[in-house]
Amino acid sequence: MEIVRTISKLRDCLDLHRRQGHSVGFVPTMGALHEGHASLVVRSVAENDVTVVSIFLNPTQFNDPKDLERYPRTLEADCQLLEKCGADIAFAPTVAEVYPEPDTRQFSYPPTDSVMEGAMRPGHFNGVCQVVSKLLSYVEPDRAYFGEKDYQQIAVIRRMVDDLGFKLEIVPCPVVRQSDGLAMSSRNTLLTDQERTTAANIYRIMKESRTLGLSVQQTHDYVVDGINDIDGLEVQYFSIVDGDTLAEVSSWDDAPSIVGCITVFCGTKPIRLIDHIRYK
Ligand code: PAJ
Repeated sequence: MEIVRTISKLRDCLDLHRRQGHSVGFVPTMGALHEGHASLVVRSVAENDVTVVSIFLNPTQFNDPKDLERYPRTLEADCQLLEKCGADIAFAPTVAEVYPEPDTRQFSYPPTDSVMEGAMRPGHFNGVCQVVSKLLSYVEPDRAYFGEKDYQQIAVIRRMVDDLGFKLEIVPCPVVRQSDGLAMSSRNTLLTDQERTTAANIYRIMKESRTLGLSVQQTHDYVVDGINDIDGLEVQYFSIVDGDTLAEVSSWDDAPSIVGCITVFCGTKPIRLIDHIRYK
């Protein structure tokens, strides 16, 4: 696997492949890689001739400087994992390489980017669109792989890709979980063992809520009350939404696909954990 630091080197490598007619798969990440990321890479390797993985902790999508500061940085271990997964190119640029000038572009795709994470973290999806649009223009992939772990992020990126006219297929990939159901996340390493165990209740309670035959409002309350009753967990929001537009629904008949998206504060630091569940 080649580790590339600059855009021009990346383009040189990819030109060589394109001249041979190779298809290119792309997996954007912020590093601190785990099995969730690995599942995206393995899928890209299976479906493309060349797989590029970017490792770039994008400052413009962090609205809380403390969150950026404590985000785990593990480049060496990341590259080892990528090598094992069969990735061809790890693209790990500096902030100055990606942002030689401050990025003043504003993206706005309501309601996908204005509800839930968009409402709680102002500017977050703008930063995601800034960096993903840059990365897509460097790599020009045939396919780009995103985890459904960040369900809303995929909806926003789909809108951006349509808006800017990028020609590529977006491939959504299922959430990879620990055996107790906790969605794998780079932020899980910031939890104590006790907090990790407690955090498994988030998915357990959401899953339970699917089996009870409740209305949308009752389901909402069941999940929020059940999680808030557990010491060390506090729901920031739980929204039951149309799986495509992310508009809130009030009845199970309101949309062909319905998901519940949740963010929970866990522990004393606290760490924000994101998850979702599909109801239909
Ligand atoms: P990051 O949080 O590093 O995630 C990179 C990709 O891995 C995302 O598509 C995310 O949804 C996916 N992923 C993370 N945990 C997963 C899990 N448990 N199962 C399946 N997929 C998982 O998302 C970002 O980085 C950034 O916003 C980025 C798109 C790279 C732009 O900076």
